[in-house]
Amino acid sequence: MGLLDGKRALVIGAASGIGRETAKLFAREGAKVAVADIDTSGAEATAAQISALGGGSCFVGVDVTKKASVSGAVDEVAGKLGGIDVLVVTPFVSTGMTVMEMTQSDWERQYAVMATGTLFAFQAVIPYMQKQGAGSLIATSSSHFGDYGSMTHPAMMPAYGSAKAAVELLVRSTATLHSPQGIRVNAVAPGFTVTQGSLNTLEEHGVKDMAMIEGMLGPGMPMGLGKPEDVAEGFLFLASDYSSYITGYSLPVDGGSLANAGGKLAP
Ligand SMILES: NC(=O)c1ccc[n+]([C@@H]2O[C@H](COP(=O)([O-])OP(=O)(O)OC[C@H]3O[C@@H](n4cnc5c(N)ncnc54)[C@H](O)[C@@H]3O)[C@@H](O)[C@H]2O)c1
Repeated sequence: MGLLDGKRALVIGAASGIGRETAKLFAREGAKVAVADIDTSGAEATAAQISALGGGSCFVGVDVTKKASVSGAVDEVAGKLGGIDVLVVTPFVSTGMTVMEMTQSDWERQYAVMATGTLFAFQAVIPYMQKQGAGSLIATSSSHFGDYGSMTHPAMMPAYGSAKAAVELLVRSTATLHSPQGIRVNAVAPGFTVTQGSLNTLEEHGVKDMAMIEGMLGPGMPMGLGKPEDVAEGFLFLASDYSSYITGYSLPVDGGSLANAGGKLAP
């Protein structure tokens, strides 16, 4: 028996990293999983990996920065699965520019993918969950923003950090408004996790190999660098009925980074 038996889940951003491992874990735990991403071939590959595990899945292309694309994908998935019980939103983009380097387009791109994309996904899925009278919406924050407003984040990533702060507050206001309808709304706040996205971001800053990454970030992380599989377990908890009275929360899944000032202040 799986923790998500009978549930229908949509994971947006599941062509890579944390989203991909979350989709696979959900399938292993019995959910029917729809995989969505702007990278359609990556989404297809995730769906194929789920099928190889014996799970039920489908995939759809989506650009979360475009409201019509999101609502179209959500309608398609709800039609295929017969509803949506769990939504996970994980798209990522970051160029790591400092305040004085920041261009308007870079600022707006990061907001569009991570903050506005989460809003569009919530807006498209909530009507289905209202009809069902139940559901779990799960956004993705960042553990530097998960400790309830302390607002510490690497200075080299002001747009990324601001977009994650927006996600945190979107989660809380959506939870306040929609939890009375049976819709729980939470976020997972990963610490540094080894994914294609995080490696690409570090590479832009000249940090290219795992030894350098370990040296730079490892000391601030009591349990070491995260793997996408570790973070997927946080999403599983918030998707499952074992979090049935938890809403408006941001769950750090960061190997103890937040417990450690070094982790908070690491670049
Ligand atoms: N990896 C980390 O260290 C870390 C730390 C804290 C928070 N996070 C958060 O976790 C989430 C997942 O990050 P990851 O490291 O797995 O990233 P990743 O780059 O490996 O995966 C992100 C996915 O988002 C997709 N995507 C990008 N733009 C999109 C768009 N417009 N529409 C739809 N999909 C789009 C990409 O194609 C990719 O498949 C992000 O929200 C990120 O901010 C990651």
